[in-house]
Formats: sequence, C-alpha cells, structure tokens
Amino acid sequence: ESGYTLVTKGHLTVVAELGFQPFEYFEGNSTTPVGFDVDLITEIAKRLNLEVTYLPNQKFDTLVPTIKQGGKADVAIAGITITDERSQEVDFTTSYLDSNQSLVVKSGSTETEQTLNDASKKIVVQTGTSGEDWAKENLPNATIVSVDDVAAAMAGVQTGLYDAMVIDLPVASNLISTSYSDLTIAKEIPTGEQYGIAVSKDNPALTEAINKVLADMEKDGTMTALKTKWFGS
Ligand code: ARG
Repeated sequence: ESGYTLVTKGHLTVVAELGFQPFEYFEGNSTTPVGFDVDLITEIAKRLNLEVTYLPNQKFDTLVPTIKQGGKADVAIAGITITDERSQEVDFTTSYLDSNQSLVVKSGSTETEQTLNDASKKIVVQTGTSGEDWAKENLPNATIVSVDDVAAAMAGVQTGLYDAMVIDLPVASNLISTSYSDLTIAKEIPTGEQYGIAVSKDNPALTEAINKVLADMEKDGTMTALKTKWFGS
C-alpha cells in the first residue's frame, strides 16, 4: 500500500470539464471522454493498478473547488495551468505539458491585440481560465465575456457575436484544424504556462505516487509517444 486515500477503492475518480479538445472531449455522440489527458490519466491509473472513473462533466471553474472540498474526486485533469493562486487551494503534480494562450479571430479579420483593446470590442473567454485572466489584464478597455462552453464561444466568434476569443493555443490549433476552418489565430501569446494534475492537499501520497509514474513515463518514452499521438511530431 502506498498510503494514499481514494474516493472509491480500486478506482481513480477523475473530475474534468470535458469540452477541451484535444485534451478531453467527446467524439461525435459518444459519451466516453477521449483525449490526451484521458490517455494520460488512464495510463497513470493502470500503473497504480487502478481503474479510471470519470465523474459527469463539470464547469471548469468548479474543478479546483471540487478537489479542495474532497470526497467526490481524487484528481482533476483538464489542461489545468499550475498557478500560485490555485496552488493555495490544491496540490499539483509535476507539469506534464507546456502551453501558451492565443487570440482567435475570424479568417480575414484585421483585428490585432491593439485594435481589440477598445470599448467597442467583445472578447470571449472560458470562465475561470488563465485566458480570462490574460484578457482582463491585457485588454482592459474591451468587454470581456466569460462563458462556460468553449464550443459556444468559438461559434460566437464565427457568427460575429464576439470579436475574438482568448484560449489555450493547443486547443485553438486543434479546433481550427478540425472544425472551425473559418477561424484563425491572430496572435500566439507566450504566457509560458504549464499543465498539472490537481490533487487534494490532504492526499500528498497520491501526488507523490502520480509524480513517480510521470517520471517513469518520461523515462520510458510513453510520454513522448502520447504527445506524438495527439500533437504530431
Ligand atoms: N489552461 C487554462 C487554465 O488552466 C484553461 C483550461 C481549460 N480546461 C478545460 N478543460 N476547459 O485556466
């Protein structure tokens, strides 16, 4: 025994916001989440001799509070950026991926970071994300509209309801190439973020066990293989 506690014995219970392609999302009408994070947490669970159980989809801004509160999920994995603020509420594993933000606009649009920082502009972001923080800080003159659903936000940029979206670059790239060919990345924003898995501060042995698996996966090439599968080489 490794000294950690689990919500349900034999299971690694996972909570996520499941609309964040290619990290966690539903393919077509499927009700089984897929994605880089799903593969990663499934491999971690397997190496800990646990079975993965996903809770029903939750809004992104409820994930850290759910882990902090305890009793419902063992981990949250959802492309979550490790921040000082969140680190006061939960523990994070070592980072498994580097990320940045991006500014998404309609193809052919001439908007720039400068022109978007104007009272007439509407910028959409996902509620509770680092993209929301970036927008509020760097586009103080614009109207920042926070929504829970990334697909609704992207659709709103398509229809002109919003002038731009601020969202994690790997998600923007993936969504544009798979489903929003009429949108484009106006700017890559080098925020230098790192994704980690959130675990309760009451469960340091679980964080430690996951960190050991992450280190093993880096060493044995599994992590590289996963990144190649989802992001290409
Ligand atoms: N990396 C960003 C953050 O941590 C966005 C994550 C959004 N994840 C999601 N599953 N919707 O704030």
